[in-house]
Amino acid sequence: MDEFGKLADPVDIGGVPIRNRVFQAPMSGVTDEAFRRRAYGHGAGLVVSEMIASGELAKGRLDTGRRVRHSGLPVHMVQLAGREAHHMAEAATIAEAEGADIVDINMGCPAKKVTGGYSGSALMRDLDHALTLIDAVVGAVKVPVTVKMRLGWDDTALNAPILARRAEQAGVKMVTVHGRTRCQFYQGKADWRAIARVKAAVSIPVVANGDVGSPADAETVLEQSGADAVMVGRASYGAPWIVGQIAGAAGGDTSSRVPANGAAMADYVVEHYEEMLALYGVESGLRQARKHLGWYLGRHAPGLSPLLRSTIMTSLDPAEVIHTLRAAFVAAAEVEPVRAAA
Ligand SMILES: Cc1cc2nc3c(=O)[nH]c(=O)nc-3n(C[C@H](O)[C@H](O)[C@H](O)COP(=O)(O)O)c2cc1C
Repeated sequence: MDEFGKLADPVDIGGVPIRNRVFQAPMSGVTDEAFRRRAYGHGAGLVVSEMIASGELAKGRLDTGRRVRHSGLPVHMVQLAGREAHHMAEAATIAEAEGADIVDINMGCPAKKVTGGYSGSALMRDLDHALTLIDAVVGAVKVPVTVKMRLGWDDTALNAPILARRAEQAGVKMVTVHGRTRCQFYQGKADWRAIARVKAAVSIPVVANGDVGSPADAETVLEQSGADAVMVGRASYGAPWIVGQIAGAAGGDTSSRVPANGAAMADYVVEHYEEMLALYGVESGLRQARKHLGWYLGRHAPGLSPLLRSTIMTSLDPAEVIHTLRAAFVAAAEVEPVRAAA
C-alpha cells in the first residue's frame, strides 16, 4: 500500500468517522475556534480544541467556556488537562454536553505551569495515576476518549508504549505521540522512529506528531513510525492551510482556497483578524490576534518596513491595522509575487 497515499483515507475513531488522516494539532493560544474553522475549511482531517484545564472548566471560567464551545464543525474534539479524576470526569461531562464527539486527554504538555500541577506530561511519571484519569473520563462519557502523549518524561523513561497499551486496555480509542520527551520541551528533532514502538504496542490508531511541516515530512514520518495518521502543529503558524495541503498532496479531496496573490492574502488575513475580534471582543481580540499577524507577516511579507510592522503590531485601532495589513501584503506581493502562496 502506498504509505503516503493512505493519509487521504478516512479513519474511524471509536465510531466517529474522520475524513482523512492529516490532523491539526491542538495549540493553546493558537487553535481557537477561528483558526480551527480555517484549518478544517482547508481540508484538515481533524481539528482539536485548545487544551482546557478541567478544574477551571468545572468552575465555569469564561475562557474555558469559549474553548469548549461547539465550533459548528462536523467533528468537535475537546482536549482536557488535569490531575484530579473528579475534575476530569466533570469536565468531560460538560464537554459532551457541549456536543463533543471525541474527548482527548492531554498527557504531553511540558509547561511547568501544567506539569508543576502534575498534569500534562507529568502524568507520564506516574502511569497508575494517569490511568485513574483515563478511567474517570472513559467512565463519564459515551463518546470516544483519546490520549495525546510524549515519548516519556526523559530519555531514561520512554514509557509511551506502556501508557498507550494501558490506555487501550482502559478503552481509549486513539493515541497521538509527539516524538519528544518532556525534558526536551521543543528542542532537538522529534524521534519519529521511537513512535514505531507505540504503534507496535497497540491496535488502536496511532497518530505521529512532531516537526511535520510538508508532504515529504509526512511521508517520512509514516515510513519511520508506521503510524496511522499524522498531526501538524507549528508549521501551521501563519498558514492555516498547511494541514489541508498535506492531505491534498496525499490525494485527499481538499478544495482548499489558499491565497494566491497579495490582495487575496490581505483579504484572508483581514478576515481572520475580524473573526478574532468577533470571537474575543475588540479589546482582547486585537491583542490575541497579534501573534497570528506576526506569523502571517513574517511568512508572507518578510521585507515589511519596521514602521508598518510596528503599526500593525501595536495599534489599538482595528481600522488602522486592517488598512496597514492590506498595504503590507500588496506591497510584499509586488516585490516577490510567488511568496504569497508559499
Ligand atoms: C504554542 C503551543 C501550544 C500548544 N498547546 C497544546 C495544547 O493545548 N494541547 C496539546 O496537546 N499540545 C499542545 N501543544 C503541542 C502541539 O500539539 C504539538 O504536540 C507540538 O507542537 C509538536 O508538534 P509540531 O512540531 O508539529 O509543532 C502546543 C504547542 C505549542 C507550540
